[in-house]
Amino acid sequence: MKNQIKIYEKIKPFKKQIFVSGDKSLSIRCILLSAIAVGKSKIYNVLKSEDTFSALKAIKKLGVSYTLKKNYLEIYGVGINGFNNKNITINAGNSGTLARCIIGLCSGNNQKIKLVGDKSLSKRDFSRIVEPISLFGVNIKSNENLLPLEFIGTNLLRPISYIENKGSAQIKTSIILSALNTMGTTKIKAKKSRDHTEVLLKYLNYPIKIKKKKIYDIIEIKGLSDFKAFEYNVPGDISSAAFFMVLTLLSKKSELIVKNILVNPSRIGIITILKKMNAKISIINKKKYKGELIGDIRIKSSENLNSFNCPESLNSSAIDEFLLIFLVAARSKGISKFKNLDELNKKESPRLDIAIKFLRMLGVKVLRENNNISIFGNPNLKLKNKFHITNFMKDHRVFMMSVVAALTIGGEYWINDRDSIKTSFPNFLNIIKKLGAKIN
Ligand code: S3P
Repeated sequence: MKNQIKIYEKIKPFKKQIFVSGDKSLSIRCILLSAIAVGKSKIYNVLKSEDTFSALKAIKKLGVSYTLKKNYLEIYGVGINGFNNKNITINAGNSGTLARCIIGLCSGNNQKIKLVGDKSLSKRDFSRIVEPISLFGVNIKSNENLLPLEFIGTNLLRPISYIENKGSAQIKTSIILSALNTMGTTKIKAKKSRDHTEVLLKYLNYPIKIKKKKIYDIIEIKGLSDFKAFEYNVPGDISSAAFFMVLTLLSKKSELIVKNILVNPSRIGIITILKKMNAKISIINKKKYKGELIGDIRIKSSENLNSFNCPESLNSSAIDEFLLIFLVAARSKGISKFKNLDELNKKESPRLDIAIKFLRMLGVKVLRENNNISIFGNPNLKLKNKFHITNFMKDHRVFMMSVVAALTIGGEYWINDRDSIKTSFPNFLNIIKKLGAKIN
């Protein structure tokens, strides 16, 4: 079957050093912020995937030009409120981050913009963005908060005070981008989530104030202050590295170093959780880069993994890695518990539902009560039947996690929708093969 891969054996022991592609969240933020910077920005190691190409097509439609060279991307920024477009349609493809953030970015724009996306994005809820961005004075029309959605911005936006309590960086970033277009000071009390937008704006000397509290951050943004174009070298994506981290620790006699990874504290929930489960994992060679933290991640095969009762406070910093964390829990001794994972069901596919279905198909006992789950781990998990995985809603992370499961549990697997990796990590299977895995 086209687009299907077959895996018949576990990966053999390996000892390697790898790089993964540039961080997706930072790549999209660099593209959107350079579009409204003044002058020519240069971005190295930007992720080249469908999601970032959708971001580039979007800024082009808004009248911003760019050149993609072999080693870097050049974007010719037009300044805040400098977009020059008429009645355009922006297709965000599969990217929730782009779709949510572009609404804030274009809020000061007086033209009608239609926003569309692929089948998966068209099922995702936009009320989380429609509500705050409408408060600025943007006129947004949609059918029950789903795409396609139409909006008209205004150059008379009003600053807002808003409490973001989902712990969503997409909502927070969309509000910050809208605040940039708004005269006056916008205030956000935001439940902790990845903070790359704030860190980048601060590095660019933009007038943004951030007060870090335990559960929330208080952010104040003064609008309409131009900022200069910039150079940026995007570090590797921990959400991509995570597949190889878990592959290594669930394999026998293997060791891996993933070089040059963005290890911002708001992104390393998976490392915190795996350490608590007794995994041999550490961050080495840490250094600061333009306000962000970068390091290499070292992992060794880990037997004697134990269960973990995961506090809700770690949910946001591990949100894209839970499929893998569940896989580790399924191979650990004891019962692992995870709480209030409703946000996980709002991703490219309903990942909580899918993870439970997947683990049960593997023969793992999982109990669910609302959005809380208990996974009954078994270090000697063996597959009873041949395994045929249909990648539900073509979710890239479900595909990659299934490959890691197949290469570490053993048995016979057929996994569909290999093309899904094009959205975030087109090089995934090449690296898997470089580590020695046999894939047909
Ligand atoms: C992202 C934020 C997260 C994450 C997504 C990327 C971002 O979504 O799941 O893959 O770049 O801001 P939420 O902010 O909705 O949790």
